[in-house]
Amino acid sequence: MKETQFLPRNYSNNIACGEVAWSSPSNIALVKYWGKKKYQIPQNQSISFTLDACKTKTKLHFEKKDQNNDGFSFDVIFEGAKNEGFKPKIETFFKRIDAYLPFLKTYHFTIETSNTFPHSSGIASSASGMSALALCLVDLEKQLIASDASLEEQDRSVEEDYFVKKASFLARLGSGSACRSIEGDIVVWGEHDEIEGSSDLYGVRYLEEVHENFKNYHDTILLVDKGEKQVSSTVGHDLMHGHPFAKERFGQAEENITKIKAILKSGDLKAFIALIESEALTLHAMMMTSMPYFILMKPNTLEIINKIWAFREETGLHIGFTLDAGANVHVLYPENEAEEIYEFINTELVAYCQNGHYICDRIGFGACKL
Ligand code: PMV
Repeated sequence: MKETQFLPRNYSNNIACGEVAWSSPSNIALVKYWGKKKYQIPQNQSISFTLDACKTKTKLHFEKKDQNNDGFSFDVIFEGAKNEGFKPKIETFFKRIDAYLPFLKTYHFTIETSNTFPHSSGIASSASGMSALALCLVDLEKQLIASDASLEEQDRSVEEDYFVKKASFLARLGSGSACRSIEGDIVVWGEHDEIEGSSDLYGVRYLEEVHENFKNYHDTILLVDKGEKQVSSTVGHDLMHGHPFAKERFGQAEENITKIKAILKSGDLKAFIALIESEALTLHAMMMTSMPYFILMKPNTLEIINKIWAFREETGLHIGFTLDAGANVHVLYPENEAEEIYEFINTELVAYCQNGHYICDRIGFGACKL
């Protein structure tokens, strides 16, 4: 699909006001996206587990404006209180998607949103937040297009496919990784020769064979630092322009998609851990070797990593970690070892979390309409 296919169709329904609501999850990348071209096009392919517990719930109330369709008009209510802080990001998002949803300026929106994970937990809410909002908007667009009751089953599934792709396409324009938050349980973003249907424009569900070992995979998120990041992802992505290792890194990510495809099929957990840990450390190595350089890990991030390595060595259990663009540690492990590993996390790792806080999550099935 090309960008032009997401341009609007005929809106034949006139809707004065109404409401839509969606819940959308966060995701954790296994092969990381770091570096982008214009229009949020990724420099390399990425693959992620969709999460189950960390979600944003968004209710979009819309009301036709009487006049003045020049600008965007919206209010944001975050966790029950009016919020001005999110408005600039949403305004930028609306500007980017205006061409694809030209009804935006004709409505006043009230965006009521909340997260299932604690506010300021250091967990990026942009993936779940932007995908939930994108889903609400595509849902509204669907209502504006007169539905054709005579549609055959096959055409209906084409419509559904379009809905999901457009939601992912728009979410990408809000925050790159958000395009991987529409569906579950594994999603690829970025065109790759070995992933059929993959695209730079939107995330696609990973439909290749996946071994039982990865069913119900756990992700315990250790909240090492709940503060605001010192360097935003936007700045970090930008620093990949002219980065001395950029070319090698983008090539490596492409190869890692090929490698992880074989791993997901074979169920080789040792190879899985080696790949995801290397990806996590490479992401942070890119930050440390950009100009200006920066470090998002904290002393406790390293303490946790070392503890995980020692425990793995000692027990032979398949515990591994990955990192986002922050200090928190995502501890990944299979369902059949969950009991012992969870016990270890509770007794040995929680001490390194800020106020002892962590979130138990696992691989999940994507967004849903509320
Ligand atoms: O979606 P952004 O622009 O916030 O970038 C996120 C990048 C990482 O989370 C570090 C990696 C990824 O692929 O999700």
